[in-house]
Amino acid sequence: MAGRRTAVLISGGGSNLQALIDACDSAQCAAEIALVVSNRADAFGLERARRHGIAAAVLDHRDFASREAFEAELDRTLRDARIELVCLAGFMRLLTPGFVEGWRDRLLNIHPSLLPAFPGLHTHARALEAGCRVHGCTVHLVRPTLDDGPILVQGVVPVLAGDDADRLAARVLEVEHRCYPLALDLLARGDLLIEGDRVTLPEEAEALVLHPLFTPG
Ligand code: GRF
Repeated sequence: MAGRRTAVLISGGGSNLQALIDACDSAQCAAEIALVVSNRADAFGLERARRHGIAAAVLDHRDFASREAFEAELDRTLRDARIELVCLAGFMRLLTPGFVEGWRDRLLNIHPSLLPAFPGLHTHARALEAGCRVHGCTVHLVRPTLDDGPILVQGVVPVLAGDDADRLAARVLEVEHRCYPLALDLLARGDLLIEGDRVTLPEEAEALVLHPLFTPG
């Protein structure tokens, strides 16, 4: 059975995009990556899409007179491609409440911290600065407030002696690549119960996400 048609929005390297593509190539995934949209023509993620024969579009926000005009074209592009679910994966544009509400409960984001700690930028440096013993990533449904919304999956990594922001970021990125496919699959299966800020997962999925996703090795 074909998976639910999913678009991934990127601005850069797209390592999370790659993790999603690889996971969706496997028979078990309930989603299919059908479209990649970048707001930058030089994003390496576009090359990843081409290599996998996935349709790719560039929508440069600088070509539009307003954020709303950019988003109207983005929305049209997604709907023309019969997209059902959207994943933000390093997409460096703020989205207006109008766009977000139009894709309510069908729009996922991955953020490189254990939300609600450290929304916004420079999360790894801030986690180090705060003396955190653990850090990680969060995949959540998008709501109009930045880096806010019902949490699906979180991945935890330790903060180790001698870490700098780059080393910590690399450790978090590894766990991101495991969390995002898991979250997309859960959403695509359509058996999540979303009530306010809370998501209840199906019983068999609880077993998957309650354990820390980091295996010391
Ligand atoms: C990731 O750290 C993600 O959490 C953040 O942007 C970064 C994107 O990396 N939102 P990549 O382009 O997927 O490699």
